[in-house]
Amino acid sequence: MNEVLQNILTRRSIRSYQSEQITDAELEAIIETAKYAPSGSNSQSWHFSVVQSEEKLLQLNTCIRDAFKDLVVDETTYRAKVAGKKAAESDSYNFYYHAPTLIIVSNDRQYSNAMADSSLALQNIFLAAHSLHIGSCWINQLAWFGDEPVVRDVLTTLAVPQNYKVYGAAALGYISGNQPKAAPRKEGTVSIIK
Ligand SMILES: Cc1cc2nc3c(=O)[nH]c(=O)nc-3n(C[C@H](O)[C@H](O)[C@H](O)COP(=O)(O)O)c2cc1C
Repeated sequence: MNEVLQNILTRRSIRSYQSEQITDAELEAIIETAKYAPSGSNSQSWHFSVVQSEEKLLQLNTCIRDAFKDLVVDETTYRAKVAGKKAAESDSYNFYYHAPTLIIVSNDRQYSNAMADSSLALQNIFLAAHSLHIGSCWINQLAWFGDEPVVRDVLTTLAVPQNYKVYGAAALGYISGNQPKAAPRKEGTVSIIK
C-alpha cells in the first residue's frame, strides 16, 4: 500500500492533545493543503481563521457552554447536540479538547456549495496534519452556534467575514496518549455496477 493510502486509512479523530503548540512551518504546510482543496467552480470562497490564542479559545468555550445551556432539546434533536448539552454542564467541558490550534472554516452563506467546499478543505487539513504526526478532530459546535449573537461577536474578532457562516473547524495539536483504533466499517455501503 502506498503512503497516501496508508495516511488516509490511519487518520483518526484525536480528542486528547499536548499543550505544546505546533510549529509555524507545520501550520503553513497544513493551511496550504486546505487552500488546494477542490471547490465548486473553483470558488475558493472559504476563509480560514487560525486561532492560537488561548484567551480567545477559552472565550469561545465560555460562549459555547452558554449556548448549550440555552439549547432546548426534544426527541428530534440530533444526538450529538443532546450529548454536547450534557457534557457542557461540567466545568471541565472544553469543546475543542484543549487543542492548542483551532482552524475555523467559514464560507459565504449564500453559496450553495459552501458546506461541500469547506468540508473538502477540512479533510485536507486532517490528512495533512496526520502526515505530519499531528492529531486533529472535526469540531462542530461553532457550526451549530455560530449565528448566536454572542458567539458571532467573538467570531467577528477572529476575522470571520460578516456574510460568512462557520461550516466546521479543525482542532490541531500533538497527540497526548495513544491514537484510537478505527471503528469497524459498516457493511452494504458500496454497490459496484459493471
Ligand atoms: C460533520 C462532522 C462533525 C463532527 N463533529 C465532531 C465534534 O463536534 N466533536 C468531535 O469530537 N468529533 C466530531 N466529529 C468526528 C467524528 O465523531 C469522527 O469522524 C467519527 O467518529 C469517526 O472517527 P474517525 O474520524 O476517528 O475515523 C465530526 C465529524 C464530522 C464528519
